[in-house]
Amino acid sequence: MKRLEIDHLLSISDLDREDVETVLRVARMFKERYLAGERVVPILEGRTLGLVFEKPSTRTRISFEVAMHQLGGQAFTYTYRELQLGRGEAIKDTAAVMSRYLDGVMIRARRHEDLEEFARHASIPVINGLSDLEHPCQALTDVFTIWEKLGRGPHTVVFVGDGNNVCSSLALACVTLGWDFVHSVPEGYECPERVWREVERRAEEYGAEVRIVRDPEEAVRDADVIYTDVWVSMGDEDEREERLRAFRPYQVNEELLSHAPEDAIVMHCMPIQRGYEMTDEVADSERSVIYDQAENRLHVQKAVLSLLLR
Ligand code: CP
Ligand code: NVA
Repeated sequence: MKRLEIDHLLSISDLDREDVETVLRVARMFKERYLAGERVVPILEGRTLGLVFEKPSTRTRISFEVAMHQLGGQAFTYTYRELQLGRGEAIKDTAAVMSRYLDGVMIRARRHEDLEEFARHASIPVINGLSDLEHPCQALTDVFTIWEKLGRGPHTVVFVGDGNNVCSSLALACVTLGWDFVHSVPEGYECPERVWREVERRAEEYGAEVRIVRDPEEAVRDADVIYTDVWVSMGDEDEREERLRAFRPYQVNEELLSHAPEDAIVMHCMPIQRGYEMTDEVADSERSVIYDQAENRLHVQKAVLSLLLR
């Protein structure tokens, strides 16, 4: 199988349009084979992936573990606390040593810089399983799910809420595919400038439009996809009260959806804080594809691993 010409996957900006389309095609192949009853496609037989978590996870952990199993390899999960890393062992030493045992490592880290440092000292592929800056595996799954539900596009994807890791990776993935991206966000909660500059640059390169629209009702008017994520991400707990106040007008509820096209689908990376960024009514409605998204993490993870691990 053709591999991606990259050493690590830390950001969607590591991938060009052809790379993203390759991931989507390979993910579709894995999903079709799985649904046809071929549960194990052993192309990573004998390979071992380490999963390192500095923060909790349900979907990312389980989908990577099961993905390695379904590719004929094995995955082992470690929390920071269980590793000497949690007692202050240098990232550099941990990366060098893990590279002697493992064929790849997925890391969920608090600080994106730590991931970058790990990758600099690793001789195996390092995959970002979420950092404060990005969540690239989630975004690849999201564009895969949109592809599956609505076709190749172009589409208009509207993210209502915090300019966090999920929003940043999604914006980058959408414009890389030439899809328009609208961010409806209160002032002060936009994506980091460094990310947004890259979103705008890629939008220009790939022929997409990006806009920030403060008013959520106006933002969703032409939406094909309405996406939201938590108002208080892991690590933002100290700002909880002010965030709840700022984002209250940005709840994805039936009233907001009445301003969107009837066939617009609703997405969330999960976990959802039901009753905050999304109501039960919307999360459980026919328009919601949240469980399909979660399911697709598995098949997209298999694509990423098979394209990256040597
Ligand atoms: N969406 C996502 O990454 O979920 P987890 O935090 O459960 O892994
Ligand atoms: N933005 C959320 C995503 C969780 C998958 C967080 O970082 O907590």
